[in-house]
Amino acid sequence: MRLSVAIDGPAGAGKSTIAKIIGKNFNLMYINTGAMYRAITVVAIRNNITYSEIEKLCKLTDSLEMHFDEDKIVVNNEDLSDKINMPDISKQVSNYAAVSEIRERLVRLQRKMSEKYDVVMDGRDIGTVVLKDASFKFYLTASPEKRARRRFEEFMDKGINVDYEKILSDIIKRDYIDSHREVNPLTKAEDAIEIDSSEMTIEEVVDFITNCIRKDICEASGIFKK
Ligand code: DC
Repeated sequence: MRLSVAIDGPAGAGKSTIAKIIGKNFNLMYINTGAMYRAITVVAIRNNITYSEIEKLCKLTDSLEMHFDEDKIVVNNEDLSDKINMPDISKQVSNYAAVSEIRERLVRLQRKMSEKYDVVMDGRDIGTVVLKDASFKFYLTASPEKRARRRFEEFMDKGINVDYEKILSDIIKRDYIDSHREVNPLTKAEDAIEIDSSEMTIEEVVDFITNCIRKDICEASGIFKK
């Protein structure tokens, strides 16, 4: 059976940084599902397709070949990794991610990836929809202010000038859309372990998740005794 780790939670909770490290530690392929919704958004906007033009969006999505090459997201042979995180994409992506026809297509692709590889996948609906039978499920949260502060610092480190208040209001808006949409809204899976990272460092969260996985694997193989 394949090993799969699901990490869900709102924007800016640190999911991708943590998932990447967990992937390295346990030799899992890291699938950033938010990057997939962002990539569709980049290509749609480039083609002047709005999120309400469902038929055009479906056609476009079906014409794309999307895969990960280490940390890079590659769409029809083009590396979109830098483009997907630009502020205008962050602002619009929730609207495209709320389109059920896009979700169906991306969920199908994500499941295929998990059948082919041992994965750590982060997103909003991984534990509840995409990998309902994931070996491990975590739900990572932090206060909106902490999450906005982290995003703000990431942009400043890259030399991109942004306004903290604007990032905070975008995060609050995005949380609302992500958790109130009709299809696969952001919710904690009943069997997920919740981690509030507001007062935790990345290392502390990684250690916590690593210990949960190790303990379980060791218990299953009879190595670990309580
Ligand atoms: O994690 P992120 O900020 O890169 O996600 C971008 C958007 O995509 C965000 O609005 C939530 C949405 N998303 C989703 O609906 N389902 C996922 N599995 C991952 C992301």
